[in-house]
Amino acid sequence: MLPRTADVIIVGGGVIGCATAFWLAKAGLAPLVLERNQLGCEASGESAGMLAPQSEADAAGSFLDFGLAGRRLFPSLAEELKASTGVDIEYRQIGILVPFFREADLSARVARARWQRESGLSAEVLDRSDALKAEPLLSDTIEGAISFPEEAHVNSRALVTALADAAGRLGATFITGCPAVGVIRREDTLSGIRTANGTVSTKTVVLAAGPWSGPFGDTLGLRIPVAPAKGELVLVRPAGRLPRRIIYAKQAYLIPTPRGEAILGTTVEFVGYDKRPTVAGVRAILAGLSEVIPAIASAGFLRCWAGLRPHTPDELPLIGRHPALEGLTLATGHYRNGILLGPLTGRLVQELILGRVLSIPIEPFRPERPVPRPTNERDSI
Ligand code: GLY
Repeated sequence: MLPRTADVIIVGGGVIGCATAFWLAKAGLAPLVLERNQLGCEASGESAGMLAPQSEADAAGSFLDFGLAGRRLFPSLAEELKASTGVDIEYRQIGILVPFFREADLSARVARARWQRESGLSAEVLDRSDALKAEPLLSDTIEGAISFPEEAHVNSRALVTALADAAGRLGATFITGCPAVGVIRREDTLSGIRTANGTVSTKTVVLAAGPWSGPFGDTLGLRIPVAPAKGELVLVRPAGRLPRRIIYAKQAYLIPTPRGEAILGTTVEFVGYDKRPTVAGVRAILAGLSEVIPAIASAGFLRCWAGLRPHTPDELPLIGRHPALEGLTLATGHYRNGILLGPLTGRLVQELILGRVLSIPIEPFRPERPVPRPTNERDSI
């Protein structure tokens, strides 16, 4: 049953919404999470779970710092969630190996490893022989690899479950199957949420609806530039051994799971809200991976699926108060890094709402920054 009022309403029960509920409840508030479907049933629960700020970084800067801070939060979070809920989020610092194929790629790879080391991060360039010693399943056509030993993996579905469970024990309420359809407002100040099942009064709404944030903004007459970017994944059970580390090549990645399976990814497709996996997507993933790990051809196929990442035109998240509607805070648009950045985003939102000092600066992610308008963007205000 819907309560009549709530301290804070969080729209969206993915990793960002559940993490926000967790941190707010830890601070003594009683947040209400409204989820249109089931908790974690979209990109959060469907994601591969890589915690890979270094492997995807092209330059030092605030986004890398956000990712590194996000990654640092996981070991203690995993312990805390295990202790309070019994759920193991399977956090494992297994490292990532990024293979490269041509001599020509070498200088770019060496440069990436160098600036990362200069920033105090671990990154080592391995020649072919050392890369094959580290991961014998790699193709001997590789030229070498960079090793990022601090990168990690987490079970994304377990993470959402544990955050929600922990938040619930601390006083958060979750209502699933309950879409938020708009806000109640007086001029530029929000005073509640309208849902399919009734209204709830509040002074504070956190929008954490991933790729559905854009359509929610449309109902308010606000441009919230988040759109779906489909990513397909494949689950296989290799016939023999698995790599010990995540293998993250340009064309595809492989993540070994603790159950002896491997998650293979991915694609980036702008096809609206269609999240059916396709023959073309699966074929591209398998072809890309076969080049890097030829033995994958003998793995048993288990299943394939797709999720919708929340994409923004500048590929940075939107975190902070919305400048045009008092009471609305955005926590959305994390694109390829929702799992990595979700727990820390939840903490940042808690700090924003309580007026506390922020764990990291969020200026580059503020909603009021100029976000370019893509030519194919929906015609919204
Ligand atoms: N961060 C990995 C992905 O989006 O597939």
